[in-house]
Amino acid sequence: MAVKKIGIIMNGVTGRMGTNQHLVRSIVAIRQQGGVVLSNGDLIMPDPILVGRNEDKLQALAEKHGIERWSTNLEQCLADPHNVIYFDSQTTVRRAEAIRKAIKAGKHIYCEKPTATSLEESLELAQLAYEAGVKTGVVQDKLFLPGLLKLKRLIDSGFFGKILSVRMEFGYWVFEGDWQAGQRPSWNYRKEDGGGIIVDMFAHWRYVLDNLFGNVKSVSCLGVTHIPKRLDEQGHPYACTADDAAYATFELEGDIVVQANSSWAVRVNREDLLTIQVDGTEGSAVAGLRDCKVQHRVNTPKPVWNPDIENPFNFSEQWQTVPDNQNFDNGFKVQWELFLKHVVTDEPFIWNLLEGAKGTQLAELAIQSWDERRWIAVPELSLGVKQSDAVEASK
Ligand SMILES: NC(=O)c1ccc[n+]([C@@H]2O[C@H](COP(=O)([O-])OP(=O)(O)OC[C@H]3O[C@@H](n4cnc5c(N)ncnc54)[C@H](O)[C@@H]3O)[C@@H](O)[C@H]2O)c1
Repeated sequence: MAVKKIGIIMNGVTGRMGTNQHLVRSIVAIRQQGGVVLSNGDLIMPDPILVGRNEDKLQALAEKHGIERWSTNLEQCLADPHNVIYFDSQTTVRRAEAIRKAIKAGKHIYCEKPTATSLEESLELAQLAYEAGVKTGVVQDKLFLPGLLKLKRLIDSGFFGKILSVRMEFGYWVFEGDWQAGQRPSWNYRKEDGGGIIVDMFAHWRYVLDNLFGNVKSVSCLGVTHIPKRLDEQGHPYACTADDAAYATFELEGDIVVQANSSWAVRVNREDLLTIQVDGTEGSAVAGLRDCKVQHRVNTPKPVWNPDIENPFNFSEQWQTVPDNQNFDNGFKVQWELFLKHVVTDEPFIWNLLEGAKGTQLAELAIQSWDERRWIAVPELSLGVKQSDAVEASK
């Protein structure tokens, strides 16, 4: 049994996502379980180097989690051939510049979504990586949530018959920062810093819809900034220049209609922070982050509209719970393991920078739809030919 140590530059790892999901629940957890086992019994052992601006913070984080390497010098880390993967969970506006450098240094790329704040830049990154021949991956964590895996299981079984529509409710109240601290970083509410719920969440909705139900064909979206002023991490008031809610409709291949409400200014009266209801000719389902319940057509009650009497139905009791039937690991960790195998053994990994660019595309077109108050078609995305192939072909 051979152990293959893989050097991973982790940039932005002191942030919310970087620390909790990528470092602690993924890389540290993989190290603690003894690595990623390959089919021939060999092991991949991630060897992270934590990168950021603040040496004290990096050192404290590294020591807390038994990691030997940290650095404030990205260029030096990129120059070290031991590091073969560059990972980025910095704030969105900083990502493209660092990824360009990492591609130039020949590193494989794994990063948070959105990959950039504009489609042009997202596509440029995908094209650069393609030309450099490096492998890429973008976080698509929602696909690995137990609730969504159960939905996928239902779809694969043919449970729904023909899927007609999908209703997505996402959001919760994010405190303004005055009498209770806000639970998201303040840059999320400033457009100039890469904020906005459309840029953030539509990157998720794109891969969720494309992967589960069918490719997104068109979008109509209304964005809103419901809360115009918040207080930042230092208690200073600032103007919210980015949208904090979006009310969108999507048309998918197969005539599926999707309505998606996303809001950081909504109080939760549903079973989870994200719920997805799918209605099909044969049955319906409602998935949350972990649970999923179903109602088949043979179990569908027959309500009659009559507001003059007490409601005789307890609608929420008329659904059945989909069993787990498997152990669900943390979705970020599962995707990290797949990407590490992709890098080491060439196992397929479909969620690359081009797929990431599709998320940015949907966000950009949704914002255009909001600006112009009209439906916008979502064209297919592809990469241009490699420069080297073009030169070869012209000989
Ligand atoms: N997959 C998901 O579900 C999910 C959820 C939330 C956020 N995200 C994405 O993850 C990324 C990070 O979000 P977060 O909530 O962790 O943000 P955060 O503000 O908590 O962390 C941002 C990180 O970037 C670093 N950074 C910020 N400004 C910097 C600068 N000037 N120079 C160097 N480093 C700098 C910070 O030190 C920190 O490490 C964003 O792109 C966001 O869209 C993804």
